[in-house]
Formats: sequence, C-alpha cells, structure tokens
Amino acid sequence: MCGIVGVLGQHEVAPILVEALKRLEYRGYDSAGIATLNDGHLDRRRAVGKLINLSDLLVHDSLPGKSGIGHTRWATHGAPNVTNAHPHRAGPVAVVHNGIIENFREIRAQLAEKGLHFQTETDTETVALLVQSLIEEGKSPRDAAQEAVRQLDGAYALCFLFEGEDDLLIAARQGSPLAIGYGDGEMFVGSDAIALAPMTDRITYLEEGDFAVITRTSVEILDREDRPANREIRTVNIESSQVDKGGHKHFMAKEIAEQPRVIGEAIMHYLSDDGRSVELPGKGIDFTAIDRLSMVACGTAYYACVTAKYWFEQLAGLPCDVDVASEFRYREPPVPARTAALFVSQSGETADTLAALRYCEGKAATILSVVNVPESSIARESDLALPILAGTEIGVASTKAFTCQLTVLLMLALKAASDRGRMDADTLADTLAKLRALPSAFNAAMEDADDIAAAARKLAEARDILFLGRGLMYPLAMEGALKLKEISYIHAEAYASGELKHGPIALIDKHVPVVVMAPRDALFDKTTSNMQEVIARGGRVLLITDKEGKRITHGDAWLTLTMPDIDPLLAPILYALPAQLLAYHTAIAKGTDVDQPRNLAKSVTVE
Ligand code: F6R
Repeated sequence: MCGIVGVLGQHEVAPILVEALKRLEYRGYDSAGIATLNDGHLDRRRAVGKLINLSDLLVHDSLPGKSGIGHTRWATHGAPNVTNAHPHRAGPVAVVHNGIIENFREIRAQLAEKGLHFQTETDTETVALLVQSLIEEGKSPRDAAQEAVRQLDGAYALCFLFEGEDDLLIAARQGSPLAIGYGDGEMFVGSDAIALAPMTDRITYLEEGDFAVITRTSVEILDREDRPANREIRTVNIESSQVDKGGHKHFMAKEIAEQPRVIGEAIMHYLSDDGRSVELPGKGIDFTAIDRLSMVACGTAYYACVTAKYWFEQLAGLPCDVDVASEFRYREPPVPARTAALFVSQSGETADTLAALRYCEGKAATILSVVNVPESSIARESDLALPILAGTEIGVASTKAFTCQLTVLLMLALKAASDRGRMDADTLADTLAKLRALPSAFNAAMEDADDIAAAARKLAEARDILFLGRGLMYPLAMEGALKLKEISYIHAEAYASGELKHGPIALIDKHVPVVVMAPRDALFDKTTSNMQEVIARGGRVLLITDKEGKRITHGDAWLTLTMPDIDPLLAPILYALPAQLLAYHTAIAKGTDVDQPRNLAKSVTVE
C-alpha cells in the first residue's frame, strides 16, 4: 500500500507529482505529500485525507522546483495526520516509503542514544534520521542511503531526495514494488507503471534488494550483493486514458459495465482458432503431470479460487487445496512434488500472495499465476503467468477482475478436464460455445439493473445482512458479502446454505435480510428448502434466481431478482453481476465513498 513517485524533470515538478499521485491514489488515501528541490533548497507540503486536499494546499502555497518526490499514504504506523504524512524529512534528506520497516524500534533506540529527536510515530522517519546521521558522520548522500538501506529489515520501496542535489534520486526496493521510468532528459520513479504512464512507457522494474542511483541522464542499479545489475528496459502499454471514469459516476460503475467486453476478450485470448479447445501461452501446463493443485490468494481473488476448486475437482477430478495467503506459509504446509501451485491476484503485488509463491518455489512442480497486471512481481516470478485482461481496475472493490479471474480459471479447469481425459472433445467444444455466449448474458442481465438498484435501496436500511449459497454459489455468496461490507459498511456474512441450521439461523429475524443465490442447478431444491427455513422464522429473503426459479418459488421471497438462464457451470460468473450491483447501489443509498471506501487500499503490499 502507499504509492510513491519521484521525478527529475525539465519543468515544474509539483503538478507532475500530483498527477502521478492521482494515478496511485488507489494504493491509499489517508494523506498525501510532496517534497521538491528549488535551487538546491528542500521543502515539502503535506495534507491529510485525499489528494484533492494536497492540490488545494498547493494552490495557495505552491512548491517550485524541477526535482521532487511524492507519496499517497495508507497508514500503518501512526495516525493519518499531517505530522505522520510523507515525505519525511531529517535535515538534508527527504524520503517516501511504501512498506513496513520491521526493525525500526531498534534503529530508533540507537538514534535516540545519539541524541536524535523524533517528530512522528512512523517507521519511515527512522530511515530519514538514519540517513541524516550517516551524512553527518561524513558520508555522501549516496553512501549514506546505501548504508542505511543495508540496516533495514522488512518491506520497502524507498525514494530519497537530498538538499543541494538537484540531479539525484536514490531508490531502493525490498518486498514492495518499484519501477524506474526513462524520459527525454528526465527520469522517473514510481510504485507502478500506471503512475508513470503520462510521462513515459519505458520502464525498468527493480528486483528485490536493488539499489538505484538516478540522475537525469543515467541510472546505476546495484543488486543485493552490491554488484552492478543490468535490468531490462520494457516498453509497457498503458493508456493514460484508462484512469478516466468514461462518463460513469464511479470507477466501480464503469468497471462493472465493462465486464461483457473484458470477459469476452479473456475468453478469446485462451480459445483455440477453431473455438473447440483452450490454448495457454508459452509452454502451457500438462495437467497429466500434476496430482494436486494448490491455490492461494487473498480477498476477492481467494473467493475466485474457492469457486475454481469446485470446477477443478468436479470437471477434472484434480484434488485442490485453497488457502488464504496470509495463513499459508506460516502453516508450513507440505507441497508434494507433483503439485501445481496457482496464485491469483489482480494487482500481482499482494505481499502475502507473493510470499506464498516464494514459499512454493523449489517445492511445487510448477508455479502458475492468474494476474491482471502482467508486469507485476507475481507474474514475473511465475513459471507461467496467465493474464486476465480485465484492463486497469481502479475501484477499490474488485469487480471486473473477479469475473475475469473466474473466466480464466474456468478455462484452465476445462483444459485440465480435457488433458486428464475427463471431458471429451465435443463436450469441451459445447462448454466453450456456452462460455462464448456469456458476455451476451451479462448484457441481458444489465437490462434489469433498475430492479437491482430498487432492491439495494431496501437493503440499505439493514444493519446486518446474510448471504446464502450452495455449491458454486457458496463462494459467490462470500464475495457478495465482502463486496457489500467493504463499500456500504453494512455488516454482511455468508454461509453455505446447509450450514445455516448449525448455528447462524439464530440470527434470523425480520431485521436481518437474507440474500439467497440460487440459479436452477442440481442443488436448487436444497437451497430453496433452506430459504423456506428462513422465511418460516420471519426472515426476509432476497432471492436471486432465474425465471423458472421464480416460478417454482411462487413469489415466497420478500424480493426476487431474475437473471437470464445460464448453464449452472457458468452461473457464478453471471451471478457476480447482481452481487456487485447490490453492493454498489446500497453504497450509493448510504452515501459512502464507493471508489475509495474507508480504511482500504487497492494494492496490499504489506503483511
Ligand atoms: C475486494 C478486494 C480485495 C482484493 C485482495 C487481493 O474487493 O479487491 O479483497 O481481492 O486485496 O488483491 P489482489 O487480487 O490484488 O491480490
């Protein structure tokens, strides 16, 4: 979390820094700040809350200079106030940081013994003070930064600016992503390529342990052993316009609406020319050489994996484990040799998922990933990275990335089923033909968006909401509850429908609406029996089903939303739409900040 940027420019740098921070705001929005050098003189401006507050401040209190660094914060150590906002400054050095310095207390104690005083509660200020003290011992800015970085434990992407050094930025990466951008007589540093997109498309991604010394005309990179490192300069393809709302009120609304197109693109990417089989890039994967699949992810991506477990096990007969990344490596699970380890991540930078991937390196037969950002650390460290092609996702609540993850995972499961002789060629071709029709089903379902919005306005009055589903609808119920709670702040929990009577049914009364996801699949009768148990206890049910499901349940539910008919295998992808729209319209009714809900950030690069 936190977004950082650095610029050695030819023009006034403050507006460039603010524009880059705008593109990084998805990483955190507790506070923002910039520091610049003007004729060698270091100064900074910082403001609490969203970037707009910093922009407003700069209107009245401008910050000249052609070199600078900037930061948008997701608070870890210390409250989100101006004092704790980055850049942190100590004497001649200013620094921005993404990550957590785990040994900051020890370093702080050593510096305190030397008589240095701390102004903030942050771990980052320790880095600035450490560099300052090393400069005061006679070291050059470069040597002081290098020595300081050597002493740090934990995760960091750092960018330093020094008083009197108009043509110098120092950057270091360990555990948090960092990229260097090449301009024409200008140089940039950013947490990702999106931040730098308006300035340059020529990017070098720093690797773990890298330390970079940057001037307007040169970049010197040293690896963790202090050896000169030759890192590739890639040309990345990120449209500056991708961060526009495209006429929608919110990024989330835009991203929901984009789903038919991006799902269609993901399908076509993996479909063979004759449309009858699934083709993977590069060497692909031979599922006959695999006995077990271990999937690891966080949040929404985790629910995509839980859904995929049903597909891999039912279609391909491939045993699957699914783990929440933050629990995975500390459990020290054995990874048998014929295991494929699969990591799912929109950002490709989630710290826990990346750490789980590294745990599996050298243990699993192959490391696969399903990612949205092809240049991300998770993609780069996989044997095979499968892009989901959702395009940039800005809304903090994941929508199109989830349905594209599901689409790619289903295609992977179909390939596994075919490789393992569990699905014949004609059945595979039929299933793929149905999958190709999915974008049209999405378009048809969107025509009923007004009904969903009306239902959401009723849900907005509740304090607690339960989501129920069985089989493939159970993980979707979990995703629906997550979506709702993260943007509407209504407490929502999901249960497997059959589990309700083992305890949670005690919660049911007329004040707790229950959302039941029930397409007419093999489990429909069982799910609707559980629904009747809720209704019998005075519970109000919002049933999401198809036309026949509505007919069979005779309007017993408090509200019914009707979805287009869909093959049960594909239902979790299509039924994600009403789950997303319910959350979106509930949040609108409650007046919350849909795209930037409180306490959250889009890219979670700390453990
Ligand atoms: C919820 C949401 C999060 C992410 C999670 C993993 O809407 O977006 O739960 O799914 O933080 O992030 P990635 O997919 O980037 O690894």
